[in-house]
Amino acid sequence: MSKNIVVIPGDGIGTEITTVAQEILAIAAKKAGLNLNFSVVAAGGAALDLVGEPLPAATVAAAKAADAVLLGAVGGPKWDAVEPKLRPEQAILGLRKALGLYANLRPIRVFDTLVDYSPLKPEKIKGVDILIVRELNGGIYYGEKGQEGDRAWDVENYSVPEVQRIVRIACEAAKLRRGKVTSVDKANVLFTSRLWRKTAGEVAAEFDGITLDHMYVDNCAMQMVLAPQNFDVIVTGNLFGDILSDEAAVLTGSIGMLPSASLGDGTGLYEPIHGSAPDIAGQGIANPVGTILSAAMLLRHSLAADGAAATIEKAVEDVLVEGYRCADLYKAGMTKVSTEEMGKLIAAKI
Ligand code: IPM
Ligand code: MG
Repeated sequence: MSKNIVVIPGDGIGTEITTVAQEILAIAAKKAGLNLNFSVVAAGGAALDLVGEPLPAATVAAAKAADAVLLGAVGGPKWDAVEPKLRPEQAILGLRKALGLYANLRPIRVFDTLVDYSPLKPEKIKGVDILIVRELNGGIYYGEKGQEGDRAWDVENYSVPEVQRIVRIACEAAKLRRGKVTSVDKANVLFTSRLWRKTAGEVAAEFDGITLDHMYVDNCAMQMVLAPQNFDVIVTGNLFGDILSDEAAVLTGSIGMLPSASLGDGTGLYEPIHGSAPDIAGQGIANPVGTILSAAMLLRHSLAADGAAATIEKAVEDVLVEGYRCADLYKAGMTKVSTEEMGKLIAAKI
């Protein structure tokens, strides 16, 4: 069977990491009997430089027509001064909207072999396995916004159906895990959060075997560092999810290791949680693992190739156990490898 994959390298380290991840994706897919056709298209600062806009219509059309999209990262200081609607970030926000990607899955898993890399004590971090389910098509990111004189505003709003569909995804995911969903809000202050909390309760009640608890976002930020092992699935809005996922990511030792999937009604989009890291771009030292694990999520969620996904995940773990590290996780006694070498090691296990 043949599938079409759109690759969007983006900016900074994007090209280095997507090149490696694409190769691994192709190898793993082939072993599963899937033939992948790749097309590489521009978005972000790269597209702005090339055609004067961060998200060209052709890129959107290619993404819509594809079976899945693999993205590196967008943005960088080079484009800090451009007007808001031309910022590279608009590419990713625009794609999320155009593809209807309302569910962002961010698994935060700590490899046993990396427990010593966490800023938390090993006994606090060992076994941490959290799935953050972030609403990705609404909230303050997409509400009315603007500036007049010395005042600016960004409006947070959520509707019941928007909350229902994301909480359903969280509950479905929890059924395959430990059955616990924590809904995170700020219901002591925000109307949107009170609607969120009530709706989350109603949705979770439709599911057997799921326990739902509610947590204020400030408390959640604290619990995440105090007792991360207590979390299973976290479901939350767009902005809270953005913030909590960076916090959760760093608990694992390096944000460079973590993948994400953005799902909706059509094509799914897969990208590492980290950004474009312009400070290390072009040096061949970026950690490609977050993108490689995103490719595994692509196989699982968009191509129904669970076996191939698991093969990649196992290969990553094995290479880490053998002591190979990119610069972000390098310590004396380990073997330091480049972006490309890390890719080759992982590919060899597949
Ligand atoms: C993320 C990023 C994006 C976001 C930026 C690049 C627009 O931080 O995917 O977490 O805020 O959603
Ligand atoms: Mg973010």
